[in-house]
Amino acid sequence: MTSKPTDQRTSGAKPASFAPVGPLTGRVTVPGDKSISHRSLILSALAIGKSEITGLLEGEDVLATAAALRAMGATIDKNDDIWTVYGVGVGGLMQPETAIDLGNSGTSVRLLMGLVAAHDISVTFTGDASLSKRPMGRVTDPLSLMGADFTARMSVDGKACLPLTVRGLCPAVPMEYRLPVASAQVKSAILLAGLNTPGVTRIIEPVPTRDHSETMLKGFGADISVEVDKEGSRIISLVGEAELTPQTITVPGDPSSAAFPIVAALLVPGSDIVVENVGINPTRAGLFTVLQKMGGDISFENQRTVGGEPVADIHVKHSKLNGMKVPPDIAPSMIDEFPILFVAAALAEGQTTTGGLSELRVKESDRLSQMAEGLGLLGVEVTEKEDGLIITGTGGQLLTACADNKAIKTALDHRIAMSFAVAGLVTNMGATVDDMSPTETSFPGFTDLLAILQSAAK
Ligand code: S3P
Repeated sequence: MTSKPTDQRTSGAKPASFAPVGPLTGRVTVPGDKSISHRSLILSALAIGKSEITGLLEGEDVLATAAALRAMGATIDKNDDIWTVYGVGVGGLMQPETAIDLGNSGTSVRLLMGLVAAHDISVTFTGDASLSKRPMGRVTDPLSLMGADFTARMSVDGKACLPLTVRGLCPAVPMEYRLPVASAQVKSAILLAGLNTPGVTRIIEPVPTRDHSETMLKGFGADISVEVDKEGSRIISLVGEAELTPQTITVPGDPSSAAFPIVAALLVPGSDIVVENVGINPTRAGLFTVLQKMGGDISFENQRTVGGEPVADIHVKHSKLNGMKVPPDIAPSMIDEFPILFVAAALAEGQTTTGGLSELRVKESDRLSQMAEGLGLLGVEVTEKEDGLIITGTGGQLLTACADNKAIKTALDHRIAMSFAVAGLVTNMGATVDDMSPTETSFPGFTDLLAILQSAAK
């Protein structure tokens, strides 16, 4: 019997306080890109032979993917700074002996469901309290059309959730599928199922989302093509029963992690920092565009291509920001960055309006309500709409400390924790975050990195 997941992490909650301590300065790097790290491990596990990965994010989410792939037959080790993966080949995954616990990681579970769907194995996935609340129907629906069978726990509002068992079908049935939600996880799950499916699997993507799966599948030698139709939809076609060739991969720094020191430097007076080696793929870089439009002094230095991905050193100086209306169509390219954008908006001059963000309600937490609640505790004027927030900024005035030093709730969400840590740096008397331990999922060393940037000025 599995025990019921709770809102408490097994490692125990780690409350922490963040207060203004002067400008941020210096040059830092952030951990490897989470999306590219998951895909590096998964595609390497499907190639025949040895792949090598440097810069892999060693956060809990990616380590959960590694453990799952090991349980299905791949050999994954780390020597010095290089991860080696001996893949089993497309179609070669083996039946794991036990259920697979993916902790907090939505990307792990959704991508691995796709992988299992076209193999002749049956896998049960579990997760923590946050992951167990997240909707899985968006993945089980298309994978069922390919022939996979699912048994999922149904939530009180009738949504398929974890724990969930996937029984794969081999050979699966190829299909053409139009994505009903802008989700790179759904797109990638179908592509991974398509790899071991005879014929062509075709996905129509009306709203472009991060394209790492397409780029990396091509790099591993899959026959995949992308066209854009008259309506502007991307048509992605993948020829199945693919053979993948092992690769040497360098994972760039994660723009979604770089977002936190970057916004901190924009907000804290006197700051001047460089975050080196950050991925700036246009399908991920929406936050930087929005911050520049708000008046942020952000420049991209030493632009180059690393492993097929555009990368730069990002130079940021403290800036006076102005509120703006954020166009909903930029949302997919900054979908993980809205919590920290809301913090930037709280310090901007005038109003920032966002919309088209109902997806934020089904992330690691309901990010619209968590951010509205936390910013409200810091005295910020926030209106919560169904699909976005309207924030009236202070024009650079410090936010106020929470009454009675009340802690801001993280709700098992790493990006909520990091957003309020940054907010604490621009309060009059500091802010307490109830649990910083979720940052281990995507940004091990986050608090130390903030301290390094603060101490460099002294
Ligand atoms: C991810 C896609 C996004 C993002 C997540 C990582 C990926 O999720 O929020 O952090 O690696 O494919 P959705 O597909 O739900 O938008």
